[in-house]
Amino acid sequence: MPRTRAVYACQQCGHESPRWLGRCPECGEWNTFVEEVERREGGTRTFLPRELTADSPRPLVEVSSQEVERYRTGFGELDRVLGGGVVPGSLVLLGGDPGIGKSTLLLQVSNHISSHRETVLYVSGEESPTQTRMRADRLGPLADRLLVMSESNLETICQHIGASGARLVVVDSIQSVYLSALDSPPGSVAQVRECAGTLLRLAKGQGVAVLLVGHVTKAGELAGPRVLEHAVDTVLYFEGERHQSYRILRGVKNRFGSCHEIGIFEMGEAGLVEVPNPSQVLLAERPEGAAGSVVVSTLEGTRPILVEIQALVGPATLGIPRRTASGVDQSRVALLLAVLEKRCGLHLSDHDAFLKITGGVHVEEPAVDLGIAVALASSFREIPADSGTVVVGEVGLAGEIRSVNRLEQRLREAVRMGFRRCVVPAVGLNLAIPGLEVVAVRTLDEALGAVLV
Ligand code: TYD
Ligand code: MG
Repeated sequence: MPRTRAVYACQQCGHESPRWLGRCPECGEWNTFVEEVERREGGTRTFLPRELTADSPRPLVEVSSQEVERYRTGFGELDRVLGGGVVPGSLVLLGGDPGIGKSTLLLQVSNHISSHRETVLYVSGEESPTQTRMRADRLGPLADRLLVMSESNLETICQHIGASGARLVVVDSIQSVYLSALDSPPGSVAQVRECAGTLLRLAKGQGVAVLLVGHVTKAGELAGPRVLEHAVDTVLYFEGERHQSYRILRGVKNRFGSCHEIGIFEMGEAGLVEVPNPSQVLLAERPEGAAGSVVVSTLEGTRPILVEIQALVGPATLGIPRRTASGVDQSRVALLLAVLEKRCGLHLSDHDAFLKITGGVHVEEPAVDLGIAVALASSFREIPADSGTVVVGEVGLAGEIRSVNRLEQRLREAVRMGFRRCVVPAVGLNLAIPGLEVVAVRTLDEALGAVLV
């Protein structure tokens, strides 16, 4: 008789304990422990034949360093986020809210790759083949080598992967598949961890690329254990406002490329279409001559993108001033408000301040500091920022404007989008770009003087 034993596992990070715990000692989260049934003896660990996964020690010099050819996905945006396409034998996890377009994206990718090169197997644990077909009918002609299957038993799926000769497999989703050797239900920490482990061994052992769909929790994190993110080679998030058609694909981990790239897509009547010129889209609805609107040039991975920052500052109506920010860290906004107050004499402490980056983009780099500060000051003073000017720069606590990386690239994007003037840090400035008036500033005060005219 196989022996089973109950354990408790943290749904956040996968930490296990023989007892239920109120707070996870690993990740510090409260109320995340649920009961799991531990794997049976002789269970999943030995599920895949050893010869498929075994490797033996060999001199490093004998290991080929030639990169295998990647599968192009049919979307330049996705290829760039992946670092040049899907690497054979890699495990990629795509997370995102329900309805954002994960299944659509991977079905389009599957269809593209199978029409060009390889047999692709699309396994859905959530939809029937008929439902998948109905979705696919919107996406254009289908390739013969695209196989679909509705199955959630992972042992069966692995057998079919071997038998079909598929070189790329989509598993939609990791939370819907299970190993029958485990007693826990699909989606539990134990199942997700073991299923991902099994698929990882299959990918590495047989050189099959596996794309996994992962659901996200309310907080926007991938549901299931943290080990899932550690196990896979690449983690991508598909984000966007549900009521807008734009979708942003963001790499958060990538063993085969940069993890800071983003790709922009639009959901249309015939599936997802890439947006090769995001600056144009993100600036399309910019109000002309409105106070509080400023354009910044931000780097997302290797690519500069122009985004609009909007601020709304007004006298606080309730006692305590409210400060909210979307698309940028709220504490950065608080810091910049303090610098504006102290260094530029703007009395903002009794004002509400709201800030947003339009288009649902999230920016983290300090190079947008100056843009945020100028937007806040512009709204506070009710003076529109010059609409043909782009601003770039980090703001220090002394109100000084600090240099940013890859300034030239950022400014070239500004010129390409029709901007004729830019306000940039004076520190270490040494560049001239035809068609662009470069205004170098040392302090926030100077910058405000240059933009709010
Ligand atoms: P879906 O790929 O099912 O999302 P996920 O797998 O992330 O849950 O996307 C479903 C949404 O996309 C649904 O609201 C319908 C819409 N959609 C289109 O607008 N156009 C299309 O061509 C397709 C296939 C879907
Ligand atoms: Mg789906």
